[in-house]
Amino acid sequence: MTKFAKFTTVKIEVTDDKKVNEKSGEYALNGENVNIACVGEQKTDYARNYRHKQKEVGRIIRVDHAGEHGAIKIYQAQLFFARYFYQDLVPQLKEMLEHEKNHHQIFSAFLKSRQIRTCYALPIWAIGGYLLGIVTAMLGKNAISICTYAIESTVLRHLDWQLGFLKKVDSSAYRVVESIKMDEEEHRYFGEQTLKRTWLYYPIFYIVRLSTRFAIWLSTKL
Ligand SMILES: [Fe+2]
Ligand SMILES: [Fe+2]
Repeated sequence: MTKFAKFTTVKIEVTDDKKVNEKSGEYALNGENVNIACVGEQKTDYARNYRHKQKEVGRIIRVDHAGEHGAIKIYQAQLFFARYFYQDLVPQLKEMLEHEKNHHQIFSAFLKSRQIRTCYALPIWAIGGYLLGIVTAMLGKNAISICTYAIESTVLRHLDWQLGFLKKVDSSAYRVVESIKMDEEEHRYFGEQTLKRTWLYYPIFYIVRLSTRFAIWLSTKL
C-alpha cells in the first residue's frame, strides 16, 4: 500500500505491506501547516528527518545572509580608503560591493519568505568586516587583493558544500545559493589576478581564511 503526502517542495512516499495506520500527523514547519500521512512509526521518522533537513536549510541560508552582511562592510571600508589612496581600485570595489548588496537582498528575501530568523552574530560580522576592510586597506592595494582572494576562495569552498547538500533536499534554496556563485568566482578571480606574493601574502591569507572559517562556524551556532 502506498500513501503520499504533498507539501511545498517535498513529497514523502511510504510503502508498507504489513500494517496500515491511517493516522496522519500535522506539523507547523516554516510557518505552514503540513500534513504528513505516513504509516505507523514511520510517521515520526519522516517528520523528524524532514524537520532536521529544513533546520539545516535555514541554518545554511542564515549563515550566507550573515556572510554577505560582513562582505558589504569589508568592501565599504576598503572603498572608503580607495577613494583617497587607490583610485584605480574604486570601480572594481564598487562593483563587488553592489554584488554583495544584491546577494544580501536575495538571502534576506529567502529568510523572510520562510520565516527564518537572521543570525545573532550579525554585529560580529559587521564589526569584523569593517576592521578587516580598514586594516587591509591601510596595508595597501596588495593586501586588499590578498584579502579578497582569501575570503572568496574560502566562501566558494563553503558554497560548494552547501550546494551538494541543498541539491538533495531543497531545490529553491539550491537555486538561491547557486545564483550568487558566479559573482563570488569573479571576486576570487580579481583577487587572484591582482595579488602579489610578497611577504604579506601568507600572514594575511591565513589570518583572513581562519577568521572567515571561524565566523562561519560561529554563525552556524548562533
Ligand atoms: Fe556575496
Ligand atoms: Fe563576494
